[in-house]
Amino acid sequence: MVQLTVNGKPVTVSAAPETPLLWVLRCELGLTGTKFGCGIGVCGACTVLVGKEIRQACREPVKTLAAARVTTIEGLSGPIADALRRAWTDCDVVQCGYCQSAQLIAAAALLTRRRAPSDAEIDAAMKDIACRCGTFPRIRRAIHMAAAALR
Ligand code: FES
Ligand code: FES
Repeated sequence: MVQLTVNGKPVTVSAAPETPLLWVLRCELGLTGTKFGCGIGVCGACTVLVGKEIRQACREPVKTLAAARVTTIEGLSGPIADALRRAWTDCDVVQCGYCQSAQLIAAAALLTRRRAPSDAEIDAAMKDIACRCGTFPRIRRAIHMAAAALR
């Protein structure tokens, strides 16, 4: 049994302590917005927030997250999340959608620490999340749009 906080709610999970957070989220808690891509920390599809930092859920044994605050796409809320969702829609960012939970999580982490990120800062913040559909130019535009709306 491991206790952690997911999307603001305390939960106790029965998964073995070494189980990657990704599978606890998806299989035990039913939070399937966090995606499996590679399972080895390469694609970024499983990105979640732990506190204010992004982490790859496929590489985080759940036992390391006791007392941590995990936020998935299902729990991403507040003014930054609202601004990002609006901008994502206005810029028509999504193609197949598979990477987009992770992209939004990473974008929210970026705008939490930088309210006017440069192109280079956006590139650096998003570089570990692959998009096979090539939506990155629209992601960058949407992040600038969301940042402007928040200022
Ligand atoms: S599934 Fe975690 S980085 Fe690819
Ligand atoms: S929208 Fe298809 S992988 Fe990113």
